[in-house]
Amino acid sequence: MTDSFTNSLSFSLPNSVTIVDKANNYPIIYINNDYAQAEIAINGAHVMHYQPKGQAPVLWLSEAAVFEKGHAIRGGIPLCWPWFGDHSNNPELPAHGFARNDSFELISITSNAQGETLIKLHLSNNTFNQAYWQEAFTLAVDITVGETLSVAMTMQNNSHSELPFSSALHSYFTISDVDNIVVKGLDQTAYFDKVKSFETGTQQGDILIDREIDRVYMPSNSPVSIIDKGLKRTLMITKSGSQSTVVWNPWIDKATAMSDFHNSGYRTMVCIETANALDDTIVLGRGESHTILTNISLEKH
Ligand code: BG6
Repeated sequence: MTDSFTNSLSFSLPNSVTIVDKANNYPIIYINNDYAQAEIAINGAHVMHYQPKGQAPVLWLSEAAVFEKGHAIRGGIPLCWPWFGDHSNNPELPAHGFARNDSFELISITSNAQGETLIKLHLSNNTFNQAYWQEAFTLAVDITVGETLSVAMTMQNNSHSELPFSSALHSYFTISDVDNIVVKGLDQTAYFDKVKSFETGTQQGDILIDREIDRVYMPSNSPVSIIDKGLKRTLMITKSGSQSTVVWNPWIDKATAMSDFHNSGYRTMVCIETANALDDTIVLGRGESHTILTNISLEKH
């Protein structure tokens, strides 16, 4: 137990929750409720693990993931914000923004009447992110751990001018093997292919993971599912506040090039990312807010 961190909280924890240090000064919220086990890093408001009772883990986490302030965790659900991918006009800025590397404030952890666990975390302007973003904002993350995992991210523009935000709930899913799955729900959807310099295409049928895939599908707001005949399950991903879906698997060479991605890991993961990317960038006026949300659930075959 991270006593000093737990003691510093202004609320008491539900019985199903403990907070421990995964690494030095790196607190993790452990949840073990009637529905599932989950782990959430306060740094990055990052869901690292979600496993409904009696099932295999839903989220993929790299065996080489690094747990260190300022370093994004490879796996789980990193939050990409306030931009997705490379910054539009400054390649020096970190890919996918700064939220996934930043220290969030833990606002509350409660249990609701159904026994689900609700976690609220906030981020606003601070000494770390002022190097990347000077306009006033708040980012509120609401996570519900139950039979379904739900992650909602609400961005609010507190500045005096209109601001564009792109984002993603960059969800890494565990699969039995790339050869055993298909991704359904994007048939006939247009996409930009990042592997081919953003060439456009239209999806024909289900997506097979048989090579490097890095595509932004748009418009896309319908459910997407991963049918896994190895794990004998379907993972269902529904969403709101998002018109774009990113599908990513780095395949062999890119996985090997990433120091925090174990070499064989590309075979047991696929990212299906609920996004506001490219033309789906959200422009918020002064005081306006926008919520992007994903619900993840599992059905056994
Ligand atoms: C995906 C992008 O969302 O994230 C890919 O579409 C990128 O282009 C991948 O390679 C991983 O990004 P990062 O910054 O976590 O290595």
